[in-house]
Amino acid sequence: MRATSARLTGGDAVADHPHLLHEGPTLLAPSPGRVTRPPRRLREPPRGNSVPMPDVIRLILDDHENFRTRFEELFAQRGNTQAANEIWLGLAARLEIHASAEEAHFYPALLQNVEGSEDETKDAIGDHDEIREGIRRSEAAEVGSDEWWAGIQDARDANDEHLAEEERDDIPDFLRVASVEFRQELGARYEQYFAEHPGGRGLSGEDKDPDAYVEANS
Ligand SMILES: [Fe+2]
Ligand SMILES: [Fe+2]
Repeated sequence: MRATSARLTGGDAVADHPHLLHEGPTLLAPSPGRVTRPPRRLREPPRGNSVPMPDVIRLILDDHENFRTRFEELFAQRGNTQAANEIWLGLAARLEIHASAEEAHFYPALLQNVEGSEDETKDAIGDHDEIREGIRRSEAAEVGSDEWWAGIQDARDANDEHLAEEERDDIPDFLRVASVEFRQELGARYEQYFAEHPGGRGLSGEDKDPDAYVEANS
């Protein structure tokens, strides 16, 4: 978990600035003390394509809202184990795909385009591991048992904290340097990742070492 950020205040959160998703990065001033460099992979958007390409940040934030809603629905089913289990199986799979897709596409882009983003990335990968730990705890328990719910609660707590940090720090840092075209390119890759791992197929759910991850993706 991350200590309070000295770089950004709560007023920098994406939720406080919804226009960040609709305007170019040049409208955003760099954080004090933060050096940014231009994205490596800026490209022209495809021409003649009438289907709007997804913005990776829009896709990530939509997932976050879905997670919050689904956890609420899940805990409203405390007295109905079967209904709760159905919700949790889908939610747990989606949490893993989301974390893995971010690790495959969003965090490498953050590392490679935002100077000094190593620590916040390590923190995010550590958070993903805490969410995975909660999922594994529930999976090891009898469905509907106190231990099963405790694992779900662990995952929810870790997820709540992580989403807040991602939205307050990581996403605004990325938006300061990423063009709309780059965000759309990543959005297409992010969606492709989901298509390649339906229901979490092919994903191990195992922890990633934050230091090794940053070393491999910088
Ligand atoms: Fe996320
Ligand atoms: Fe994340």
